[in-house]
Amino acid sequence: MAGAIYVETYGCQMNLADSELILGHVAAHGYTTTDDPAAADVILLNTCAIREHAEERVVGRLTDLARLKARRRDLVLGMCGCMAQHHRAAVAARVPALDLVVGPDAYRRLPTLLAAARAVRADAHVPIRGGRRDDATAAASRVADVDALVDVRLDPDETYADLPSARAAGAVRAWITVMRGCDKFCTFCVVPYVRGRERSLAADAVLAQVRVAAANGAREVVFLGQTVNAYRDGDCDLAGLLCRAADVPGILRLRFTSPHPADMRPALIAAMAEVPAIAPQLHLPVQSGSDVVLTRMERGHTVADYRNLVARLRDGVPEIALSTDVIVGFPGESPADFEATCRLIEEIGYDHAFLFKYSPRTLTKAARWDDSVDEEEKGRRLAHVIALQEQISAARNRRWIGRTVEVLVEGAARRSPGCVAGKTPQFLTTVVAAAAAPGTCLTAVVTGATAHTLIASAVDAAPDDRAPRAA
Ligand code: 5AD
Ligand code: SF4
Repeated sequence: MAGAIYVETYGCQMNLADSELILGHVAAHGYTTTDDPAAADVILLNTCAIREHAEERVVGRLTDLARLKARRRDLVLGMCGCMAQHHRAAVAARVPALDLVVGPDAYRRLPTLLAAARAVRADAHVPIRGGRRDDATAAASRVADVDALVDVRLDPDETYADLPSARAAGAVRAWITVMRGCDKFCTFCVVPYVRGRERSLAADAVLAQVRVAAANGAREVVFLGQTVNAYRDGDCDLAGLLCRAADVPGILRLRFTSPHPADMRPALIAAMAEVPAIAPQLHLPVQSGSDVVLTRMERGHTVADYRNLVARLRDGVPEIALSTDVIVGFPGESPADFEATCRLIEEIGYDHAFLFKYSPRTLTKAARWDDSVDEEEKGRRLAHVIALQEQISAARNRRWIGRTVEVLVEGAARRSPGCVAGKTPQFLTTVVAAAAAPGTCLTAVVTGATAHTLIASAVDAAPDDRAPRAA
């Protein structure tokens, strides 16, 4: 047995899927998984670099976890993911206890890197001579003045298509990464620098993963990618991939996230309109409602293009639920630009929105510009859009009261004893007063709604096709 590993994940769904991949890969090399950092031989933080706040949380947590090393000299503390790629030397310098820094394209080499780091820890009471760690593995290098093994090589061909994922057996929803990286270079975003260029998994490899997920009990699949609708394997684009996945027995619902508005091709909208398994829901980041700002963000579309796209989506998929990402306080965002964003949010009527204050990221183009909106004003703008969206979400959810919905049950409702919680096809969280196994599709009538949740009562429970049957 190689030891126990504890992985803590920050950031987006792609990082969660990467953590499952890391756990599956190291399990194949003899590691067991633990939920308790104090019981672990290896602690790995899978990090996010999208905003400064995310990075500060990780540094704080690493500093806390480093205390465990006072009692456990052989414990290996590592950091992987986007921040490992972005700020490797800076973080390793701030957290001297860090043993390992692994970028998002280096997970295949993790077993070797872990073995090397653990060998160094086992010898930790012996003074380490310069070069000792470099000799430990050819894959890693030593960053000047930092005592950690570092492997942050980006690899334009790495998709991990062949690595086993430790996707939780029995989970109702499976998140499957179908493409990695981004070629868009929006001026605010660090992703293209830390995740590298766009690359897609082979369609057959994705479908094999969908079949395994279905066999393990998944009823819903979400295809993931930084710009997921840039997916392409030969003639197969995302629309083709979704159509093929819809034929996999056992999969009731398909989703994908996050698409880029400029890559929303007619074939994809047609597939959403025509294939019943593709859920009527889309997360469509807009970032700003001002053309001046969108141009400076280099988003590759105008507000009118976006409006037009939403009209085509609503035309093809009338019940579609839309969500978005918005950044407030981008360099040069005037009060009028901000006002235009608020008006667009109202006009589109998003079901949900992720709202962010602009955070300058080194390496990006915008980081070289004057961060002209001060923190206080950014805070005011953020509070304003949050309040606005809260009202809109509440009103959108109230529209469902009295209607019948299909709820795919995920488990017991956390705050409502005797109830189960799941999602409607629109990805609206719904609490139903019923007893039903995860994976069951309940037909329910919506009786109440808040900005974040629908309340419903079951009218008819479909038999749970996963429960053991009486002979
Ligand atoms: N500052 C604030 N928000 C950002 N995002 C990406 N980069 C930044 C940044 N530098 C937001 C965008 C993106 C989402 C994942 O994170 O809205 O769509
Ligand atoms: Fe970042 Fe833009 Fe790529 Fe999205 S499309 S990951 S915002 S660079």
